[in-house]
Amino acid sequence: MITTTITAITAGMIDLHCHILAAIDDGPAAIEQSIAMARIAAADGISRIAATPHIKNTLHPPDIIRLGVARLNAALAERRIPVEIVPGGEVYAVLDPLLLDGYRLNNSRYILIEFPHTHLPRTAGSLLFQLAAQGFKPIIGHPERNPSIIRNPDLLLNLLNSNVLAQVTAGSLTGDFGAQVMECACSLLKQGAFSFIASDAHSVKHRPPVLAEGVNIAAGIIGREKALALVTSNPEAVLAGKPVQV
Ligand SMILES: [Fe+2]
Repeated sequence: MITTTITAITAGMIDLHCHILAAIDDGPAAIEQSIAMARIAAADGISRIAATPHIKNTLHPPDIIRLGVARLNAALAERRIPVEIVPGGEVYAVLDPLLLDGYRLNNSRYILIEFPHTHLPRTAGSLLFQLAAQGFKPIIGHPERNPSIIRNPDLLLNLLNSNVLAQVTAGSLTGDFGAQVMECACSLLKQGAFSFIASDAHSVKHRPPVLAEGVNIAAGIIGREKALALVTSNPEAVLAGKPVQV
């Protein structure tokens, strides 16, 4: 009953961070699993997903990502699953910005950035500055899970500006990553640090592509209207290449 209510509130959501493409990173191994993930997303009220494979140890050719997106969209259309996939990537922050043009979110100026999971580099500010100087609008993925930021959330707040935005993982808000991450996520959310809630899903079981529960938690902290913007109008602006209301 509760799930039905939440889904009804949040139909038409957009997930900007999802490892849904098969056989490219640590996401699903085969397209059947990608399809199963899309079914879960649709049931949760998600209608568009940015496919964001890790661009870290391997610079997957952008054409491979686009081909995977086209194949998955065709498979979803054939099965009448009402989810559209758009291309993107989750790009390791220390890579040369000149290599990253093919990994923008839906060919916009926005690009999803992953910092090391162990710490925030001292050079984070200059890395983001270099990206902005190359014309990108960086979105920092799941900073609430970074140990340096958990210890000192100001490190993130000092990086954010009109060109640098941040995305919180839905599971961080619901406690899937533990109490410390949840506390950091909720505190940063309250301070207005996040422009997006995304799933960072990797499979049907390990962090599935669901947002509604996280949105519900966020609504209890910042109100329903602002929480919904993090999964509707804000990611919509990204995919359309328009400014996000910060
Ligand atoms: Fe990710």
